[in-house]
Amino acid sequence: MNGLDAMTTPRQGRSDEYRAAEAASLWSLAPGHDSIVWESARGARIRDVEGREFIDFTSGVLVANTGHCHPTVVKAIQEQAARLLNCYDAPHPLRAEVARRLLGYAGGRFDAVALCTTGAECIDSAVKIAKAATKRFEIVSFSEAFHGKSISTSSLSGMPGTRRLVGPTVPGSIVVPFPNGYRRPAEFDVDQWANLCMDMAEEVIRINSIGQVAAIIIEPFLGAGGAHVAPPVFWTRLRRLADKLDALVIMDEVQSAFGRTGNFFAFQGHGFEPDLLCVAKGIASGVPMSAVIGRHDLFDALPAGVLSSTYGGNPLACAACLATLDVIDSEGLVDRAKHLTTVFHGRFAAWMKEIPGVGDARGMGLSMGIELVDNHLSKAPDADRALRVVAAAARHGLIVLPPSGSLSNVVRLAPPLVLSDEDAREGLDRLEAALRETVSNQGH
Ligand SMILES: Cc1ncc(COP(=O)(O)O)c(C=O)c1O
Repeated sequence: MNGLDAMTTPRQGRSDEYRAAEAASLWSLAPGHDSIVWESARGARIRDVEGREFIDFTSGVLVANTGHCHPTVVKAIQEQAARLLNCYDAPHPLRAEVARRLLGYAGGRFDAVALCTTGAECIDSAVKIAKAATKRFEIVSFSEAFHGKSISTSSLSGMPGTRRLVGPTVPGSIVVPFPNGYRRPAEFDVDQWANLCMDMAEEVIRINSIGQVAAIIIEPFLGAGGAHVAPPVFWTRLRRLADKLDALVIMDEVQSAFGRTGNFFAFQGHGFEPDLLCVAKGIASGVPMSAVIGRHDLFDALPAGVLSSTYGGNPLACAACLATLDVIDSEGLVDRAKHLTTVFHGRFAAWMKEIPGVGDARGMGLSMGIELVDNHLSKAPDADRALRVVAAAARHGLIVLPPSGSLSNVVRLAPPLVLSDEDAREGLDRLEAALRETVSNQGH
């Protein structure tokens, strides 16, 4: 009897039966994803199939910036669904409006938008644009970065596991060191380390490149890499490097845009202007959508139509996107993210001092990570504890992201921007309880 023969329809309210049904028929879930069977969600609260309620510190996966099922977004989706769902690449009334609004937030030199469906697809599109515009083919990316799971975006990933799975990687993919501030050698301060990593980056490029660098791709903070943020000097050096190579800079804001960091786009917080900007996740509050924001002089290097896809810029996604932008504006969610950031980060300093094994707690805006280690001196990663913290948090009624980072020892937090102050405090109390009750016997 195979798994499917054994499959029966799960009974309502039985998480175990839903999990068994998935195990019999679907590809397996990553560790840390499997404890709660989501049934519905509203704002920053999630309900599971057993009727239990959880505070959400995930936004799905940094998608529900406006909160889950915001009434304005739901209404726009329902109305559009009744009107027009797909017209392939034909013009419809919402596409240009989406582009106009996105360009308005991006400002500066940007004047063109390509609409796509997933994060990986918009990264692929940006790479295509960069290659066509520069007539070169090498792409520089950073260690511990994550840009998606397609073959080409995996080639750009600095996460060893992701790259290993797609080998051989796409020719011309050059990975250089990112200045991971937590794991820097003790003799360097953060700025010195960033400078040294950029010196090493230049050397790696000098050795490996054949003078064909089209673009450098970078996240404003390492997301899946574990919520690492580079200091300002890194961005100064990055601009200098790009100019020296005459290369474009692609900013992967798949996670970071739409107010999450306390700026509409995270690049605005770094004072760094990229050439191409890739956005997804929070763009349409859960309807699959992504975009490349750039310039006509770069896009026009490609023949017309080559960036279109079946669902790119479809009316449903555009309606959800416009409603999302309206909610971000009307509810002041960019400022709300700034305020909530102070609430979260305010707790971190004490946790690092008081709770054994909390090696670091960091992030940019409402994308945060807690790095768990054996002790502060060895910094040996404690991936097992990270899993236990996720499970303990769930027992306390809080959902956090499954462990991430290249050592799988970072518990990531990314709440919806509509989280109330009470839920922020209550969720942080629950997380603190989970951190305290998972302390093992190691030294501090
Ligand atoms: C920074 C970054 N880039 C790209 C992607 C890929 O997006 P998608 O899963 O929609 O393909 C992700 C997904 O998590 C991401 O975090």
